[in-house]
Amino acid sequence: VQKDEDFRPNFHFTPEKNWMNDPNGMFFYNGYFHLYFQHYPDDNVWGPMHWGHAISTDMITWKEQPIAIYPDEKGYIFSGSAVVDNNNTSGFGKDGKVPIVAIFTYHDPKGEEAGETDYQSQAIAYSLDEGKTWTKYEGNPVIENPGIKDFRDPKVTWDGIHQQWVMVLAADDKSLFYTSQNLKEWELASEFGKGVGAHGGVWECPDFFPMYVEGSDEVKWVLIQSLNPGGYNGGSGTQYFVGDFDGKEFTPVKEMQDLGEDHHYWIDFGKDNYAGVTWANIPEENGRKLFIGWMSNWLYAQKVPTESWRSAMTVARELKLEKKGDSYIITSVPAEELQNYRSINYKEDNVKIKGTTKLIDSSRIDLASAEIRFNISELKQTNYKFRLSNSQGDELIFGYDHSKKEFYLDRSEAGQTDFSDDFANKISTAPRLSDAEGLNGIIILDKTSIELFFDDGKTVMTEIFFPNYPWEQLSISSEGDEFSMDHIEAYQLKFK
Ligand code: FRU
Repeated sequence: VQKDEDFRPNFHFTPEKNWMNDPNGMFFYNGYFHLYFQHYPDDNVWGPMHWGHAISTDMITWKEQPIAIYPDEKGYIFSGSAVVDNNNTSGFGKDGKVPIVAIFTYHDPKGEEAGETDYQSQAIAYSLDEGKTWTKYEGNPVIENPGIKDFRDPKVTWDGIHQQWVMVLAADDKSLFYTSQNLKEWELASEFGKGVGAHGGVWECPDFFPMYVEGSDEVKWVLIQSLNPGGYNGGSGTQYFVGDFDGKEFTPVKEMQDLGEDHHYWIDFGKDNYAGVTWANIPEENGRKLFIGWMSNWLYAQKVPTESWRSAMTVARELKLEKKGDSYIITSVPAEELQNYRSINYKEDNVKIKGTTKLIDSSRIDLASAEIRFNISELKQTNYKFRLSNSQGDELIFGYDHSKKEFYLDRSEAGQTDFSDDFANKISTAPRLSDAEGLNGIIILDKTSIELFFDDGKTVMTEIFFPNYPWEQLSISSEGDEFSMDHIEAYQLKFK
């Protein structure tokens, strides 16, 4: 039976020791991608929050750094963001050193215990050594609590269109927009979200930024909005809205103005991608929107069967904004840097599938560290069912039901599940958002996670699992006649 280090991913970021949740403060500077994270260094469950820190040159392999920000008498350090203040608008710069400014939530546990409602406020800290060490601003908090219990997770972006800093902040059942010239003084500009979209839980960890619509000069603003619970397949989930921003107010596109609880605008439909946000300060000429999420779910995150460490991040992803008719959707695919780790590969065209057919086994490609891409040019079957299995009888089932236009992912027999009733009590599903004749997919496998990107990233599903033994085989079965998979390619990913 596998445990702890056997379960530690080969390439998804995990903290060396103890607890991690949301990604925080991500920025790119001087060749390095920085990733901070909600961290409790003293136990494997949630506790007094610190900002852990890791760096990478490519967002794929990470090096953990000393803890960056510690809680203090004002409270725990909750989620937030960081920006590179290239023009020293904050005045924190010194001797020509560019300040990095972190904007986070102070969560005062004493206020919470006392039953008050104003124990979350927004604060800043700055770094003059490229994010290694931080000095908290003496004027904190920069935004006081107006009497809203859930008032947190500030995400700041430089809005070059209106020449201002813009902050989006989650406030219970909505998000608030603030603007600033110096990162210290903030003005409330507007709010969005009451009664729009999914509200099965508290809104948390928003992100807000402009994006080009693929293949055009059109710019739209995207609001990424996590909520917990109320996710598409239960528990934590991340929805999004697309619209316009006039420098003060966000107006969603017509199609999204009356969005109800049930909708298909989710960054990821699986159960394990939460609180994800994008990197700041990616060079303009690169222009990518790069995203990472916490690969777990509050329903069971603190109970998963690892002891010495808990939780991983998703693989870094590139987001794109696509338009079809009047509707806009966000697509995501693994950041292209992952391809630099491809080693052994296997490619085949016109694979005949009859009954259950083996596609790959672990003697060819190690399925605990693999990238698999497939393409079926014409969907003639009703059900395309993939199965990962091992000799212990564990199996992970996923696929596409063409009669329902629905993807599915079933981890109920994928190894250890009994640590939580919410882990595998139901099969996760996701709508197909493409009407193409064929289907393509990217499958990213690590020891304890699967990330599925269908239809060029239009439908994404991420979930974790804990098999008793590594996967030994990937097969596919058809319920109807023989068919052929037009192309499959598989790569072992190698990290050392
Ligand atoms: C989301 C969240 C945030 C909060 C942080 C605390 O997972 O609840 O809203 O800032 O975690 O660790």
